[in-house]
Amino acid sequence: MEIANDLPHLIESHQLRTHVNKMPLLSCRFLKSYREQRLAHLVLSFITMGYVWQEGNTQPEEVLPRNLALPLVEVSRNLGLPPILVHSDLVLTNWTKKNAEGPLEIGNLETIISFPGGESLRGFILVTALVETAAVPGIKALVQAVNAILQTSQDTLLQALQQLRLSIEDITRTLGQMHDYVDPDIFYAVIRIFLSGWKDNPAMPVGLIYEGVCTEPLKYSGGSAAQSTVLHAFDALLGVRHSKASADFLYRMRDYMPPSHKAFVEEIHAAPSLRDYVLSCGHGCLLTAYNQCLEALAALRSYHVTVVTKYLITAAAKAKGRRPNPLPRPPQALEFTGTGGTAALSFLKSVRDKTLEAILHPRG
Ligand code: HEM
Repeated sequence: MEIANDLPHLIESHQLRTHVNKMPLLSCRFLKSYREQRLAHLVLSFITMGYVWQEGNTQPEEVLPRNLALPLVEVSRNLGLPPILVHSDLVLTNWTKKNAEGPLEIGNLETIISFPGGESLRGFILVTALVETAAVPGIKALVQAVNAILQTSQDTLLQALQQLRLSIEDITRTLGQMHDYVDPDIFYAVIRIFLSGWKDNPAMPVGLIYEGVCTEPLKYSGGSAAQSTVLHAFDALLGVRHSKASADFLYRMRDYMPPSHKAFVEEIHAAPSLRDYVLSCGHGCLLTAYNQCLEALAALRSYHVTVVTKYLITAAAKAKGRRPNPLPRPPQALEFTGTGGTAALSFLKSVRDKTLEAILHPRG
């Protein structure tokens, strides 16, 4: 915790690796509760990203020392998470209220562990946390919708779909707060590297050796909101079918979710098909409500494309034009690719287009 609490300063002053190398070997035996284990994963994965990327893209550390690797791998096994920073570390576990009685608003929230990137890093994490909060009524609506189908209650299903659409629209509005709190240049040049993984990443082509765990290097993707359960679950209910390449990537991202979250998505997927039900019941209002959910989801994904364009593509072009510049040079190999290592924009547009393709047209 001492190292983690001072992480931005230790990274910026190039001292983190020295501190970690002197760290005692910690045992996970003393972690009593689930919350303590999640905190341990949060802390150890943040330190790991800092350790690997302390010197930026040019000199990633390709060996994680055993006193960091062993407890990270142990707590990861206990939690069923990979031994790398995941969305549930960066966002879901990483916020606290300043005033416990106060509202869930950005002014009353603080991150627990940070990287360099100051207010932009804080904004990036907390806006994403607020996006997850905006999704809560939508997640509840999924459960309501599945139950309504099982009980053939069309009124309840209609209400659930209307609730789901409102929640998706609220997510889109909340995502817009990114512009108020996150500077694209800082995101691109400073923050992004600490979210980068060691799979499909030309800066670390062979992966990372977890000393004391395995002699072969291991490959893991970086942290991304593609690891959030929310859109996976929405797609599962609405029956959105992605292209093979996109679906492969998204399925892989499910292994970066807490196992109970992954199980939730699978359960929604295994439930009786909403699409079939809407088509077979011939209820026009249900069909409209279903289509409106898809339109709202596609609009969210289109908006996300504009955010990614601003924070990655335009920021990359600006950084190129400005060199040499005072901000560290971002990893060349990572330019125009997402932190999860996919060719970001074409993937995101395909995922958006497939959402629209799911729209149902009335029969006859
Ligand atoms: C500056 C802000 C953001 C940037 C630059 C960004 C960038 C990206 C990139 C590059 C991908 C491609 C997959 C990957 O490489 O991991 C992606 C996927 C994704 N992002 Fe973001 N993202 C941002 C914020 C968010 C937020 C706040 C959310 C929450 C709604 C989000 C939700 C998703 C989802 C769900 C995917 C998977 C594709 C999909 O299902 O549509 N992103 N993001």
